[in-house]
Amino acid sequence: MPRVEQICCIGAGYVGGPTCAVIALKCPHIRVTIVDLNQARIDAWNSPDFNLPIYEPGLEDVVRQARGRNLFFSTDVDKGIRDADLIFVSVNTPTKKSGVGAGFAADLNYVELATRRIAATATSSKIVVEKSTVPCRTAESMRTILDANSKPNARFDILSNPEFLAEGTAIDDLFAPDRVLIGSLQTQEGKEACAALSEVYQNWVPKERILTVGLWSSELSKLAANAMLAQRISSVNALSAICEATGANIAEVAHSIGQDSRIGPKFLRASVGFGGSCFQKDILNLVYLSESLNLKEVAEYWKQVVTMNEYQKRRFSKRVVDTLFNTITGKRIAVLGFAFKADTGDTRESAAITLIRDFQQERALVNIYDPQVESSQIWADLNEASPDVPLETIQRQVSICSSALEACKNAEAVIIATEWAEFKTIDWQAVYAGMNKPAFVFDGRLLVDADKLRSIGFKVTVIGRGERL
Ligand code: NAI
Repeated sequence: MPRVEQICCIGAGYVGGPTCAVIALKCPHIRVTIVDLNQARIDAWNSPDFNLPIYEPGLEDVVRQARGRNLFFSTDVDKGIRDADLIFVSVNTPTKKSGVGAGFAADLNYVELATRRIAATATSSKIVVEKSTVPCRTAESMRTILDANSKPNARFDILSNPEFLAEGTAIDDLFAPDRVLIGSLQTQEGKEACAALSEVYQNWVPKERILTVGLWSSELSKLAANAMLAQRISSVNALSAICEATGANIAEVAHSIGQDSRIGPKFLRASVGFGGSCFQKDILNLVYLSESLNLKEVAEYWKQVVTMNEYQKRRFSKRVVDTLFNTITGKRIAVLGFAFKADTGDTRESAAITLIRDFQQERALVNIYDPQVESSQIWADLNEASPDVPLETIQRQVSICSSALEACKNAEAVIIATEWAEFKTIDWQAVYAGMNKPAFVFDGRLLVDADKLRSIGFKVTVIGRGERL
């Protein structure tokens, strides 16, 4: 069995960075180099004051312990590849924007470029590990590229090792994963490569949590896991619409059904809709896969999860407009939270972006506050969401604030778009004093104590709570 002494990770993003930093921490005998083409990102990973490119609780501590010891960040991709026994491919796989499968299929260009780079550079045998989320049978394409370019004495084994961490809890998830999944070809070499990677994880993960399966099952399992998690959110959000129409309370309904041990309590929190770089992309990927396999009904079934999510966001912004006497033109709306969820600075597919775009279209004035997201990221996202509107126009309508209190000043309404813990402890009395009256709060995350806010004087609207109680 090959022994892993040097690891290279291609892609220093939300997955490659934390995953391989934890491997370095837990395996001091393995030298781990994380490489990326993006110089600014690598500079941030290497910054002397640990101003890391991503915010993730506990990450800085891990990097502080391992960086310079056996953890390195570099833009020298070729050296990283040459020196490694095992290479993680952890590059981005966004939804294709044009060409065949646009809007659904995964853009595998980055995976292919990284694979070709490995093929061109490697002079010794490597285990190549697909860490990115990819459609079923991508490993086969990678193998074809690698085999067609392999040199004498350099053979490649491909493994699939999808990542199940969740942003916001990535370090805890990596320290104690529910499972590590490794897919390999069921050949002697495939099984040996699988055992070599398994040995790396066994430095801290109990053996019974390391599942070894076939390559295609592993690839499909990642898409399936995300599709099923998102499907729970869309299911509970669909029920929240019924609650609002009937006077039932989604928090009570979710709690009641979550007590059923067959269902369980997790991922049953109604919200303004799911975001993040993965759920929508991976479901659309599954839809595309199903369609290409001629499984029309299967494709339609999964597509509905995304349709429901879009509906939930639209429904929420419409409820804001309806409640504010059918117009928000010229009214100031405070949006608290811009990240797609708490404890991350990631804004990809954040529901806040859609809501703010809707408010802009209604010609409202919007104040935004988020404790982690950089202003430059907010402007980039809003610009991308309204490509026909010049950035200067957006900046006349939207302001970025440095505290929740500042954002709420002179506003007609407050929208809670992200479940940051600090929003639970806002001085609502002070917020109320600074707002125009009547002062409205729209809780898109079931975060605040609605009754307490009502006692201060707010008019409170909560997802999944009807007016008739
Ligand atoms: P990301 O966009 O944060 O990072 C990807 C990095 O790869 C970028 O820094 C980019 O510059 C770099 N890159 C692209 N092509 C390269 C090349 N040829 N050579 C060197 N560097 C290259 O993406 P993220 O979020 O880390 O996702 C990576 C993969 O992991 C995706 O397939 C995603 O679906 C999957 N995933 C993401 C999770 C998440 O929570 N973000 C969770 C589980 C899986």
